[in-house]
Amino acid sequence: MSPASFHEGQHPVWDRFVRLFHWSLVACVLLNYFLLEEGERPHQWVGYFAAALVSARIVWGFVGSHHARFADFFPTPSRLKHHVQALLASRPDPHAGHNPLGALMMLSLMSLVLALGLTGWLQGTDTYFGEEWLQNLHKGLANALMLSAGLHAAAALVMGRLERTRLVKAMVTGIKERY
Ligand code: HEM
Ligand code: HEM
Repeated sequence: MSPASFHEGQHPVWDRFVRLFHWSLVACVLLNYFLLEEGERPHQWVGYFAAALVSARIVWGFVGSHHARFADFFPTPSRLKHHVQALLASRPDPHAGHNPLGALMMLSLMSLVLALGLTGWLQGTDTYFGEEWLQNLHKGLANALMLSAGLHAAAALVMGRLERTRLVKAMVTGIKERY
């Protein structure tokens, strides 16, 4: 949908799968970072579940509803350029689905979760068991994920204000409201 057609009012954008995916992923990441014992069984399963959620989301990116599809928001260089130029010129450039910068962040967050699944799994293999560099890599990826997620949540709040759109509420109800 072009920004021009994203007018005031209510727009159903996020399907049930996207919303369930989002908040389940948030829960898994927070559990593994803050609550569960490092490297123990529950940590491993929650981490694998997070990676499975991301894998399912990738499939959904091809077969899901309109705004859930990669084709709708994939941050191509030209989409990114257009969006950044609009931001720098203080021109609003709201999108019904993900804007290109949000999409770039989404892809980074999902890649970090997959990389955590891989580095977590490798730590349990005979070849890499006890390798300090791998433990450090896993830890570094986890910290990068938390830092990015913080930035992502802050950006959702700030952009929502600037574009007069209830972005966070939309991830709960599925309906984007412009006011
Ligand atoms: C969302 C995914 C995950 C996150 C956010 C996460 C996060 C973390 C964090 C913060 C630590 C502590 C690092 C430190 O301070 O030393 C850790 C340790 C560990 N994680 Fe994960 N993890 C994830 C997935 C996994 C998976 C899937 C596995 C294995 C199947 C795994 C295995 C381990 C192990 C074995 C340790 C202990 C490493 C050590 O001895 O230093 N993690 N993880
Ligand atoms: C560990 C923390 C988080 C992770 C890994 C994460 C990951 C993601 C991902 C992968 C998406 C894309 C959704 C999709 O199309 O399937 C997304 C979108 C979104 N997230 Fe998060 N998120 C996190 C925390 C948060 C928090 C705390 C908030 C609330 C402030 C939030 C608000 C949003 C919103 C509003 C969108 C949609 C943005 C738009 O309208 O384009 N996220 N997030």
